[in-house]
Amino acid sequence: MQLSDIQALDSRHFLPVFGERTPVCFVRGEGCTLYDQDGRAYTDLFAGIAVNALGYNHPAVTGALVAQAQTGVLHTSNLYYVEPQAQLAALLCAHTFADRVFFANSGAEANEGALKLACKYFYAQGSKRHKIVSACESFHGRTLATVAATGHDYYQKPFRALLPQGFTQVAYNDLHALKAAIDEETAAVLLEPMQGEGGVTPADPAYLKAVRALCDEQGILLILDEVQTGVCRTGSLYCHEQYGITPDIMTSAKGLGCGFPIGAVLTTEKVAEKIARGDHGSTFGGNTLACAVSLSAMRYMIEHDFSAAAREKGAYLMRALRQIQSGAIEEVRGMGLLIGVQLKADRPAGGVARGLLDRGFVAGTASGNVLRLAPPLIISQAEMDAFAAALAQELS
Ligand SMILES: Cc1ncc(COP(=O)(O)O)c(C=O)c1O
Repeated sequence: MQLSDIQALDSRHFLPVFGERTPVCFVRGEGCTLYDQDGRAYTDLFAGIAVNALGYNHPAVTGALVAQAQTGVLHTSNLYYVEPQAQLAALLCAHTFADRVFFANSGAEANEGALKLACKYFYAQGSKRHKIVSACESFHGRTLATVAATGHDYYQKPFRALLPQGFTQVAYNDLHALKAAIDEETAAVLLEPMQGEGGVTPADPAYLKAVRALCDEQGILLILDEVQTGVCRTGSLYCHEQYGITPDIMTSAKGLGCGFPIGAVLTTEKVAEKIARGDHGSTFGGNTLACAVSLSAMRYMIEHDFSAAAREKGAYLMRALRQIQSGAIEEVRGMGLLIGVQLKADRPAGGVARGLLDRGFVAGTASGNVLRLAPPLIISQAEMDAFAAALAQELS
């Protein structure tokens, strides 16, 4: 099909929640390169919004997907034992703070699960704690509870009548505001260790440490949403490791399936022992195909130390971006390969991303006029150099 035919179908039949999309349709991918219908190549620095950690057509992903599909078993339901599910849960527990894992299909769904765990943890003890404090400018998903937790009026306003009660937001990186918002009904604090959608803003190390201490002091839970920051992207398997703290509950998705939809809720035995049969569930969550792909990809990334690779490549790319002589750049920030280029107000990030696309590079944006980069973790030095040169030209 021609792009114009696809656009016509989309505009006529697809719910307009994504508005007018970037006018390109990628039909093939290899490594860090995407190809459109005319065979034009694009170097990808966004990875499908921080998802395709192993790029395109990686044997650890494609091979596992094909091999599992060829068994004929894509899904059997959670009524039966699922071998790659058990193995993936064990792998995640072996490499994180967690003792137990539940699988979902997306980041929002994982966060829903995390909120339910926190609520049930206190309910099982006869406690009235059930409220959640999260951060302004956060992003936790599009379901009702995750919209209620997301600190943006824009996402909440039309749905306020249906949003669940018990959610408040306070300024990110502001310990006093957080302390003031916690009361005897608070069950958990929910935070991203680095806000992604909100503008690529890392938590201050002292803040996150103090939040952990505050939660302990108050006897409440710390939930970290690592949907965007997890799976080696920021330079450790999960971002919080670099802060020297552990959460009580953590969510993961995006890179976890390297393009195949899967989400996970990870927690400790202390929380898990308050969860009983029937408290949560899913038809598709943790299905055989998703877990087989994720298991293979995660094993590969852990065995080949992709955390170190993201750290080193991220430092290289940030250095190259900081060397760009342009008055349009206010700041380059981030951790590992989740990088934000803060642009001056007169250079809208959307326009810059579009200009980069015309030059053969895929980049994203985030709130606050930020150009957001989250390339596949396999990106090469030559690809990063070429991108930095293209951005320099775009901003000249
Ligand atoms: C931190 C964070 N949490 C949750 C989500 C929602 O994930 P999903 O779109 O898979 O539901 C996102 C998506 O961008 C995210 O960045």
